Amino acid sequence: MTDGRSNLVSTLPMKKLKQMILRDGVALNDHVLLVDSFLNHQIDISLMTEIGREFAKIFADVGATRIATVESSGIAPAFATAEAMGLPLVVMKKQVSTILTEDLIQIPVMSYTKGGTYLLTVKRKFIDKHDRVLFIDDFLAVGEAALGAAKLIETAGAAVAGIGIVIEKAFQHGKKRLQEAGYAVISLAAISHMGENVIEFEGDL
Ligand code: G4P
Repeated sequence: MTDGRSNLVSTLPMKKLKQMILRDGVALNDHVLLVDSFLNHQIDISLMTEIGREFAKIFADVGATRIATVESSGIAPAFATAEAMGLPLVVMKKQVSTILTEDLIQIPVMSYTKGGTYLLTVKRKFIDKHDRVLFIDDFLAVGEAALGAAKLIETAGAAVAGIGIVIEKAFQHGKKRLQEAGYAVISLAAISHMGENVIEFEGDL
C-alpha cells in the first residue's frame, strides 16, 4: 500500500476535518493543539462517523481482521472505523486495573506530551496470532504510542495491517519513524506548522 495522501487531499471528510481544526482548534503553542470541542472531549458524532468511513475506504484492501487503539481519545475514531468496516475493536489499556489478572502482554511506552512512561497492556486472548490489526489513533506526535502498539500486536503473534491517524503533527516526525519501521501510515490531516493561533497543513485544504 502506498502513502496515498495525494489521492485523499480533496475528499470531503478530510476537508471538513481540516476546516474544523482551523475553526475550532486552538494552537496553544508550537506543538500542542486543542481539539477538545469536537474530537476528544466533546465529540462531533457526524464528523467522527465520516472519519470512520474514510479510514474504512483507505484501508479497505489491507485485509484487516481487527481494529485496535489506545485508550482514551483513540476510542472514538477507532469505534467509528470498526463500525464502518464491520470489525471487532480492541482497546489497549494504559491504566491496568487489579482485576486484569489474565495472561497480559505489556509494552512500556514513553509519552513526551504527557510526560512519563506507561505500560501499554492487552489481554493476550483479544489479539489472535492470525489477526491483521489496523491501528487507529487520534494524534500522531513522535510515534511512541503507535510504535508501542505495533510492538504489542507483533508480540501477540499478529501483523500490523496499517496505521490510521486523525491528526498528524508532521513536524514531530512520528510518521517517518513508523514508515522506517515498515508500517503503512495514513493521516487524515497533517499539520506542517503550528504557532500561537497559527495552524498550517501539508497539502491542500
Ligand atoms: P506519541 O504517541 O506520538 O509519541 O505522542 P505523545 O506520547 O507525545 O502523546 C501521546 C498523547 O498525547 C496522546 O494521548 C495524544 O492523543 C496526545 N497528544 C499528542 N499531541 C497532542 C496535541 O497536540 N493535542 C492534544 N489534544 N493531544 C495530543 P494519550 O496519552 O493517549 O491520552 P488520551 O488523551 O488519549 O487519554
